[in-house]
Amino acid sequence: MEHISDYLCRYKNYIFISCMINAEHIDSLQSFEIRDSDIFLVTYPKSGTIWTQQIIISICELSGGLNEYPNNYEQMPWLEYMESHEPYSLRPSPRLFSSHLTPALMPLGLKDKKAKVIYVMRNPKDNIASYYHFSTVCSYMETPKSFDQFLEQYLTGNVLGASWFDHIREWHSKKDQYNILFLTYEDMILDLKAAVTKICSFLGKNLSEADVDEVVEKATFKTMKKDQKANYEFIPKEEISGNFMRKGQIGDWKNVFTAAQSQRVDQLLQEKLCDLSLKFIWE
Ligand code: A3P
Repeated sequence: MEHISDYLCRYKNYIFISCMINAEHIDSLQSFEIRDSDIFLVTYPKSGTIWTQQIIISICELSGGLNEYPNNYEQMPWLEYMESHEPYSLRPSPRLFSSHLTPALMPLGLKDKKAKVIYVMRNPKDNIASYYHFSTVCSYMETPKSFDQFLEQYLTGNVLGASWFDHIREWHSKKDQYNILFLTYEDMILDLKAAVTKICSFLGKNLSEADVDEVVEKATFKTMKKDQKANYEFIPKEEISGNFMRKGQIGDWKNVFTAAQSQRVDQLLQEKLCDLSLKFIWE
């Protein structure tokens, strides 16, 4: 494990928050036993993770048989962090997990293609803007001196989650190895009901129109922000002194990027990912 700053370390080509990583646990994930009913939500940080958690959890609740946990964090814990009380192997099915990991660090059993993976991508400029604001309120991250300094760190991959470009490339290029649904934050903003319907169908959950509407209502920014189980305000203020639910919009990047910074991201996208033919919605 290589410490790359006061807060971050590199392990197996991925960047973790030093005080949160347990290398033995990360190693053990390779042989983590997968159940066919497991559902994994994978994102690069700040791409709409807690939003998609709320959708998946609401769908599973309405289709019955989901054990109740005090909040969405405990209902759908991050695979890479060890749970303090209940080992993952003892959790009742269906187990729901979140993760920011890359394919190389994920359980090998996922390649049996029985368990399901949902991958959510956000346009990189809004992702950067959201990540920048989050860094200023999260005590586990270095407070950026300026947006420009954060941008530099992000573009060189020296942030939790490592390089956004690598994350996107790795998950997209390995998609045939997994039972995976790709979604974008922007598509969810533009048509939440269509996204919920797509997720239901991927998960094989047959919800009535009224239930789909209920999931959509629970997942709107306004409702979720007031939902104590979903808004992550249960995280102590000493750890996160601001809101997970900040703005929830497309195009907020325009408030922090200069034209030159924006062009730099465009150029890197062209250089690093043009062969994937991804479509981005910027506003
Ligand atoms: P902003 O910082 O741009 O507001 P993550 O959960 O991966 O950390 O992502 C956090 C981002 O998702 C934040 O973006 C947050 O506001 C946004 N988000 C959370 N819930 C949302 C919702 N119901 N609708 C739209 N955006 C949401």
